[in-house]
Parts: sequence; structure tokens; C-alpha cells
Amino acid sequence: MIITVASIKGGAGKSSICQTLAVYLLQNFPEKSLLLVDADPQKTTAEWIQERNENEDLPGIPCVEQSGKIHGALQEHAKNYDFVLVDTGGADSTAMRSALAVSNAVLIPCRPKKRDLKAIWQMADTIETALLNNPKMKVLSVITQAPTLPSQGNRIASAKSVLDAAELNPLRHITCNRNAWDDSDENGCTVLEYEDKKAKDEANALYEEVMEVLNRD
Ligand SMILES: Nc1ncnc2c1ncn2[C@@H]1O[C@H](COP(=O)(O)OP(=O)(O)OP(=O)(O)O)[C@@H](O)[C@H]1O
Ligand SMILES: [Mg+2]
Repeated sequence: MIITVASIKGGAGKSSICQTLAVYLLQNFPEKSLLLVDADPQKTTAEWIQERNENEDLPGIPCVEQSGKIHGALQEHAKNYDFVLVDTGGADSTAMRSALAVSNAVLIPCRPKKRDLKAIWQMADTIETALLNNPKMKVLSVITQAPTLPSQGNRIASAKSVLDAAELNPLRHITCNRNAWDDSDENGCTVLEYEDKKAKDEANALYEEVMEVLNRD
């Protein structure tokens, strides 16, 4: 299964979501094989994985860097791995479009902020085009870095309605804005291997929902 994490908005949380999903799969499906593909020239995930793979306390994850028209390479990887997770960069890149042409699922992180929600319409266009050639691709979006104050709940609800209107199928679970996402990055960790229970519980609930949706039908 090829799962691409994509958004044309920088800083939406693609790399964090992709890395944490990899660790979730490692923890919950140890019998399955997994490859991370960093398709972002910024190399966020490749550098993170290098640190992780040097850390003897954590199980390693294989990772390759790829750019340009990557669809053929992704299909080849999918023959050898149960899960191929692709982290794309924060731009409407050839690599992102190429990955969307062959992905089984796309996960689109989006912050509940006005500028991110404006940019979501361009992403929706890109997804609509990708679906013409890859109609079986499951499309999911997730709200990231949401405010934790209950008084700000309306921001989350209105962001979800924009994602709904753009037919990007927002997941019920979200990630809140918690320092643990930033702090756990050290030494190749994720929130799933860190002390903040709230962040860990939110991530686990999110990925449980992702797997449930992907395994449907
Ligand atoms: N739920 C969260 N709460 C707080 N901080 C977060 C959360 N998710 C991600 N971050 C932080 O936000 C920053 C941007 O996240 P990340 O690098 O994952 O985004 P990105 O979409 O991959 O960015 P780019 O477009 O540059 O590739 C990082 O510092 C990360 O630690
Ligand atoms: Mg990134």
C-alpha cells in the first residue's frame, strides 16, 4: 500500500504526520514491512531517519530519497514492502503529482488557519485531477496543530467544514498544537515515543482511525 502525505502548504505537518505514521505502523504491525520515501528536497524525513537509525534505543526504519517522476519507483517499492509512506514537500511538485498517480491513499494535513484553508482549494484541484487517473485512491485529510482551548473549538469545526466542502474527507481525530511534536523530534523520536501522554493518545487515536478507513471495503 502506497500512502502519500501531501499538502502544498509549507509547515502543515506533513513530515511529522508521515514519520509518526511510520512509527505507529512499526509499533502496531511489527510483522509488516515498511519503507519511508522522502520526496522533499528539504530532506526533513531523511535527516530525521538518519538520527533515528543512529539511535540504538529505537527500532530503525528504511528510508530512501527520491525526486521528480517517482511513480515507477514507488510501484517497484510496493512490490517489496507492505507499506510505502511518501513525505512530499510543501509545494505543488512533480514528485507530489507523480506519487498521487499511484498512491492507494493520500493524507492531507491542514492547520485550522485562514491561509491554510485558502490554500486547500488548490490542493483539492490537484486531488481532483489525480483521481481522474487514479480513481481508487482514498483521500483523507487531518487537522493538525489545532488550538487546545475549548473556546477555540469553533475554529476546528469550521476548518472541518471547509475540508468537507473541498471533498477531502476530514478525519474525526486531529492533532492539537503540543510542544511534544517539536521536542520529540530529537534523536529521531516521535510523539509516540515521548512522555506527553495527551500528544501520544491523540496520535494513536488518529492513526487507528486512518487504518480503519484504509481497511474499509
Ligand atoms: N500537532 C503539532 N503540534 C505542535 N507542533 C507541531 C505539530 N505537528 C507538527 N508540528 C511542528 O510544526 C513544524 C512543521 O511541521 P512539519 O515539518 O511536519 O511540517 P511540513 O508540512 O512537513 O513542513 P514542510 O512544508 O517544510 O515540509 C515542526 O516544527 C513540527 O514539529
Ligand atoms: Mg516536511
